[in-house]
Amino acid sequence: MGRPARSARVAEPLFSVGEVVKKLARNEHQLKKPEPRKEWWRTSQDRLSLSFVPDNVIGRESEALLLKDTLDGLLKADRGGAVYVSGLPGTGKTLTVKRVLGEVGCRSIWVNCASQGEPRAIYGTLCDRLKGITTSVSTEANLIATLAMKGEKTILVLDELDFLITRDLSLLYAVFELPKKCTEAIVIGIANSVDLPERLLPWLRACQSVPVVFPFRPYTSDTIERIILQRIEKDVIDLPAVKLCAKKTAAVNGDVRLALDVCRAAIESMKNKPSRPNSFIAEIVRIFESRGSVSGLRRTMENLPIQQQVVLCSFVSKLADQKQKEATLGSVYDEYQPMSLRAGTSSLTFGEFSNICSSSLTQTGLVEVAEAKLVKRKSAGRSPRRQLSLASPRTKLLRLCVGE
Ligand SMILES: Nc1ncnc2c1ncn2[C@@H]1O[C@H](COP(=O)(O)OP(=O)(O)O)[C@@H](O)[C@H]1O
Ligand SMILES: [Mg+2]
Repeated sequence: MGRPARSARVAEPLFSVGEVVKKLARNEHQLKKPEPRKEWWRTSQDRLSLSFVPDNVIGRESEALLLKDTLDGLLKADRGGAVYVSGLPGTGKTLTVKRVLGEVGCRSIWVNCASQGEPRAIYGTLCDRLKGITTSVSTEANLIATLAMKGEKTILVLDELDFLITRDLSLLYAVFELPKKCTEAIVIGIANSVDLPERLLPWLRACQSVPVVFPFRPYTSDTIERIILQRIEKDVIDLPAVKLCAKKTAAVNGDVRLALDVCRAAIESMKNKPSRPNSFIAEIVRIFESRGSVSGLRRTMENLPIQQQVVLCSFVSKLADQKQKEATLGSVYDEYQPMSLRAGTSSLTFGEFSNICSSSLTQTGLVEVAEAKLVKRKSAGRSPRRQLSLASPRTKLLRLCVGE
């Protein structure tokens, strides 16, 4: 049998060599290219962190403009001046002041009062920063001499001014009176206590050292929504979920840090889910329910000046002892005194203690102060005694303080 006849035709290749090379290169490129959605999630998470510095300060345009005008005016004048920026935590005070300082073109020294060992240490810190060297303890007189020696206007920013609240507020008065003693000084005080201007102003008015006051109101849900959208990439979180987060934050305390935190946590948890639904709404609700409201409360407490934190602790300690939700001011003050000694804070008089309870702490919504009905009857003839209680919707606070 003869062999089958071979075809004389040469088989044509399926691809040319050039095409194969191109195809391989294309495959390799596709393998290297990161999945875009993952990239967006990562950059969005980075941009939602508190260390991220945004391009614009959203919703504070008028405050920034007014502050810049005020500082420009003070820089041209042949005298010093003072500015007081007040508002609840997370309302953009620090960010706005930093942004405006970048525009005014004047030397400025920034001190965070929370990081000073004790309130009067600010004089030493300011002197050191002015001189660029570390010196021994300085006084107000040293600071005035150093400023005068420099002979040019200097903006002194005292952030977290609440930490300078001492027993008699004298340090705070001295800070705002500094420009009267030293024409080179422009003082900017930034504080979280919303009632501080009212407490300071009568005295400062009497001394004719009234600062220009800039109140920063809590953010509305619209502004919070814009701040979130500025930071997330390509609708990584869908709009209804962003709106919900903004609304819930505005309802808790308007602290934009809460909204940024919840969004970051929502992305973290969604990216680890095997099946990813399109909407973040359920996740946002879950995070607010599990920790959102508690972390809002915790943040409010952490941001209180140290003396107010001690007052709050003594109140909670008293309640934990009595297993009740109410206590008289006097009995809490008894608890407060040894606690304040242990904490190393200067002790408040009963009047100051009572003031803090009925103004600052009441404003945070953490406690309520009311006339004591039962006690009133017993103390007939004397002024009615007052009674502290936890603000009713916030009973979680008790659990939080006692449990942690
Ligand atoms: N208007 C805003 N636009 C963009 N980011 C903001 C704005 N306000 C606050 N933030 C961000 O929220 C965080 C808290 O702001 P901050 O200025 O420190 O508040 P405050 O000093 O009032 O406590 C910062 O990370 C800041 O970048
Ligand atoms: Mg601040």
